[in-house]
Amino acid sequence: MEELVRLCKARGFVFPSAEIYGGFRSTYDYGPLGVLMARNVKEAWWREMVQLRQEVVGLDAAILSSPKIWEASGHLKNFTDPLVDCRTCKQRWRADQLPTTDDGKLECPNCGGTDFTEARPFNLMFKTFVGPVEDEGSVAYLRPETAQGHFVNFANILQTERLRPPFGTAQIGKSFRNEITPGNFVFRTREFEQMELEYFVPPEDAPRWFEYWCNERLEWYTRFGIPRDMIRLRPHTKEELSHYSVATADVEFAFPWGWGELEGIANRTDYDLKAHAAASGQVLEYFDAATGERYVPYVIEPAAGVARTMMAFLIAAYTVDEVDGEERTVLRLHPRIAPYQVAVLPLSKKDTLLPLSQEVLHLLQPVAMCDYDITRAIGRRYRRQDEIGTPLCVTIDFESLDDKAVTVRDRDSTAQERVPMDRLVEAISSRLAW
Ligand code: GAP
Repeated sequence: MEELVRLCKARGFVFPSAEIYGGFRSTYDYGPLGVLMARNVKEAWWREMVQLRQEVVGLDAAILSSPKIWEASGHLKNFTDPLVDCRTCKQRWRADQLPTTDDGKLECPNCGGTDFTEARPFNLMFKTFVGPVEDEGSVAYLRPETAQGHFVNFANILQTERLRPPFGTAQIGKSFRNEITPGNFVFRTREFEQMELEYFVPPEDAPRWFEYWCNERLEWYTRFGIPRDMIRLRPHTKEELSHYSVATADVEFAFPWGWGELEGIANRTDYDLKAHAAASGQVLEYFDAATGERYVPYVIEPAAGVARTMMAFLIAAYTVDEVDGEERTVLRLHPRIAPYQVAVLPLSKKDTLLPLSQEVLHLLQPVAMCDYDITRAIGRRYRRQDEIGTPLCVTIDFESLDDKAVTVRDRDSTAQERVPMDRLVEAISSRLAW
């Protein structure tokens, strides 16, 4: 983990936020490579959840949201964690995450004390005020999940898209939770990005769709590079279920500190639509004009986090091997997840090579995210690209000036192949195919 955090900072994936002021409460900023990788994670999700399906449409709902939403959804009452204070060192903890002593008492990870205050429910939603007056009438909340935006737009989407169950709405966006104990790098933060699908189905089909989405989502992670033995599905016990769920399974990843949740897949039943219908007085149901059938769909919800997914991909990809008797660090990221797909590397920074190298760069930029690097010796540039996971390097040498061909180097095998420039786009595109 330490090595990964170091690499993330050194190579520009993730920086501690406000670092020049000593950081700010477990917040992080995504640097140039982190932004590219996060976009790729989201694109891989969007492609499979929306683009390759007929029955799923997109949505981007507001982050600042009405208290009425959270009252109806039950979050104002139920979205809490049990907060305890250690009476010895005064640190605050989530009671359900504390280790216990041999005789079953809660133990403070900071001072080892076992004397705690009674657990009290702490609501995780961030409260703010809209407009210049800070009174009860101007209260708003930063959404703690994107999901409610889907439910309050259910009627709008049905009306505009003419969909019939099963159909889904997909949304990627920031959510906020005032976590008591953020930590493990970007695993648990107070500001984070979610990728959520709400899949509306006929109630009697919900168990089948729940199974379907558990399998689909597990497959998605393996398709993009997580080995099967580093990932598992863990069904929630009855006690763990959220207030809206009758069945949940977590996709868990083998993090260096143990199994941790990447995604939750829940059968939310008709809880949310019924709650919003009751609170708003609107009709939130599906009506089939052909059959006269009318019902409130059940919702199956696969809900994933961008940062956790990125972390899992990075951890699974991180490898140290040996090339030409030298140790190298290589991120064996899936080509569609890696920040750059291609690095364009002129062998020398002499003026004679640069115009052709620029030509190659401009050829490839429309089909792939390209890095362009003219600094240092070529071997060191290959090592840098290996370390940031770039699957292909394209090298332009002095021969290229005569034969109009370049060398394509593969990150994993380090094999090199000479490719004519007029076939380069085709050669690169086929290697990067989804
Ligand atoms: N709408 C359902 C929902 O929000 P969740 O299991 O609470 O379910 C879904 O969140 C995913 O969002 C989690 O599996 C995780 O990947 C991500 N997530 C939740 N809280 C997070 C936090 N504090 N920091 C980073 N990611 C978080």
